[in-house]
Amino acid sequence: MTESELDIHRGATEIAEALCADVREGLSAEQKWLPSKWFYDAAGSRLFEDITALPEYYPTRAEREVLAREAAGIAKITGAHTLVELGSGSSEKTRLLLDGLREHGSLRTFVPLDVSEAALAEAVEAIQADYPGLDVRGVVGDFTEHLGLLPGEPPRLVAFLGGTIGNFLPADRGKFLRSVRDVLGAGEWFLLGTDLVKDPETLVRAYDDAAGVTAEFNRNVLRVVNEVLGADFDPDAFEHVAHWDAGNEWIEMRLRAPEAMRVSIPGAGLEVSFEAGEHIRTEISAKFRREGVTAELADAGFEVEHWWTDAGGRFGVSLARAMS
Ligand code: SAH
Ligand code: AVI
Repeated sequence: MTESELDIHRGATEIAEALCADVREGLSAEQKWLPSKWFYDAAGSRLFEDITALPEYYPTRAEREVLAREAAGIAKITGAHTLVELGSGSSEKTRLLLDGLREHGSLRTFVPLDVSEAALAEAVEAIQADYPGLDVRGVVGDFTEHLGLLPGEPPRLVAFLGGTIGNFLPADRGKFLRSVRDVLGAGEWFLLGTDLVKDPETLVRAYDDAAGVTAEFNRNVLRVVNEVLGADFDPDAFEHVAHWDAGNEWIEMRLRAPEAMRVSIPGAGLEVSFEAGEHIRTEISAKFRREGVTAELADAGFEVEHWWTDAGGRFGVSLARAMS
């Protein structure tokens, strides 16, 4: 599949408009912030893949362990004809689900959706090559906006892996989960990966690795703002911070200006001043407990039928059914 064959709901114009609105809102706020989806241009998606191989970043390996063990069972339980994956990235771990569903004989269509056109195009090409006969329909879009446009026949299994659910603020998380429930028919399935609360040292190391890959990933959001909106951020001037917020049970990634500076963002018609020590919050990565996941899914109209973790109890995967 060439890039032009992807179903693109988010092209260059929409990206610039949406980034402009987010930059105006986030960088004019008292506590500056930027949404984490802006990490993921081609370079940001590559940096994320590098993160998944770091010794400190355990979530990808822990989730893969669960999927490797449970994929055949998930295929049998769901009998899905369509696998939809939200925030699919490289879809590497998803191959375990594709293998399970193919083996079971029910799978017809795979619908990966991601904001990162570069990551999606590469993943779709690789999966088409390795799964001949599978109908692969890549969708470039935002999972907070474009869920209603997803193709594929029921019964569907919607997978949201990697712990990306933790990158929502709690209020947005509830809204998102309800929007997933709204596009499913009663009885269809949702597979959710959630990173679990654990000792702060392990968590902080996962977001502040020794090789500095996460720091580069964090700074990439400033490179995206420079590229798309013609801003003059000096990304290297900002310090990477990974802070464990024990009250909220989330890791907060920040970019801290060590000294006062002024940045011009012509594409957003904005001049932004930083005081020495002031930071931009670039991501939250919430960590979960089983009871919380079950309750939030129930509030959104899902019943958790299975809960699995890796042997180390670091990462949880829930298989939930849409209730009528
Ligand atoms: N699911 C993969 C990738 C996780 S990284 C894994 O488990 O390894 C998060 C992915 O979500 C990235 O590929 C990013 O581009 C995508 N993403 C982030 N915000 C998004 C949004 N609002 N809409 C669609 N995709 C988004
Ligand atoms: C995609 N998401 C689940 C990752 C996380 O762990 O919150 C993004 C990431 N941020 C820093 N490292 C990885």
